[in-house]
Amino acid sequence: MKGNRIIGTGMGVPSRIVTNDDLSKIVDTTDEWIVSRTGIRERRIAADNEATSDFSAWAAIEAMKMADVQPEEIDLIIVATLSPDRLLPSTACLVQGKIGAKNAFCFDLEAACSGFVYGLAVANGMMPDQGVRTALVIGAETLSRVLDWTDRNTCVLFADGGGAAILRHEGGDNGILSSYMKSDGSAPPPWLAVTPGVSDLSPLGDKVSKDFAITMEGKEVFKFGVRALPDAVKGALNNTDGLTLADVDWIIPHQANLRIIDAAAKALDIPREKFIVNLEKYGNTSAGTIPIALDEAHRDGRIKKGDIVALAGFGAGLTWGGMILRW
Ligand code: UT7
Repeated sequence: MKGNRIIGTGMGVPSRIVTNDDLSKIVDTTDEWIVSRTGIRERRIAADNEATSDFSAWAAIEAMKMADVQPEEIDLIIVATLSPDRLLPSTACLVQGKIGAKNAFCFDLEAACSGFVYGLAVANGMMPDQGVRTALVIGAETLSRVLDWTDRNTCVLFADGGGAAILRHEGGDNGILSSYMKSDGSAPPPWLAVTPGVSDLSPLGDKVSKDFAITMEGKEVFKFGVRALPDAVKGALNNTDGLTLADVDWIIPHQANLRIIDAAAKALDIPREKFIVNLEKYGNTSAGTIPIALDEAHRDGRIKKGDIVALAGFGAGLTWGGMILRW
């Protein structure tokens, strides 16, 4: 479906900043190791009374302001998250309540770090057929609650916060041009997982503890990311009417590791300056990274009307996916 355009973006992150030096006081790590291996310098971590629906609602309010959209105009809310406030009700419904979008129907979507791209693609597919003219798509996380704060392999990477986009059916040539989504459920869960679930292994028998935390085979995920980012961009380009890499003005990749982004730039043979990167300030907020980077680059004027923008995500599942937009 063509003619669905992002008319507003926003972000919502906790105000508490945790630096690499702060982390070196709780695990055996250094600022030098984290910066050289990942590019991350600091991240935002939620206060005790903040949760994913809060970052989502803050981001949504900013996006609605930019788009000049009233809450009642929103027909659909999708929250992409792997760290919902609760298993029930959905975070999307909590956001609906917080922002007063009383006419929307709402659901969560779980595709890990690819969630925002998947969410935009799902909303795009529902417009305008399901009566959806205006959709609010959010990617947000509170990963600090699913981290083992004694595991230096993971706790230095992940963080909290999210971003939002208002998608509106306007017709015309601008907006989402294509999407491309892939999954590979054959990858062993230990590569990147939160082990206890509900129908599989309930955490509730035990006291929820560090066992209820992200575990990761960093090297495997790294290699996957290096393959997945270029594939996401190329796959989405292949689904357009003839656009090529040379037409792309900006790539907004999932912000997991600067070295993965550098490798993707090399593999695609695209100048690194075309990649929008802000992971040094926010770390890896999973479904939140792409909409946060999109909002920053849109607000500061880097992304201009008519630009061709590629979004590219990858994460647990495995999942990966890309999207091409004409801004
Ligand atoms: O959203 C998608 C999810 N995740 C990702 O995209 C992550 C993908 N993977 C990565 O980004 C990288 O694999 C990491 C940043 C996680 C790790 O970097 P690496 O270059 O693959 O390091 P490594 O796992 O090979 O570890 C090298 C050394 C090890 O020590 P030994 O065995 O060589 O003595 C680790 O124990 O670095 C050690 N190490 C650390 N040292 C200081 C691991 N984490 C840390 C740390 N501080 N935080």
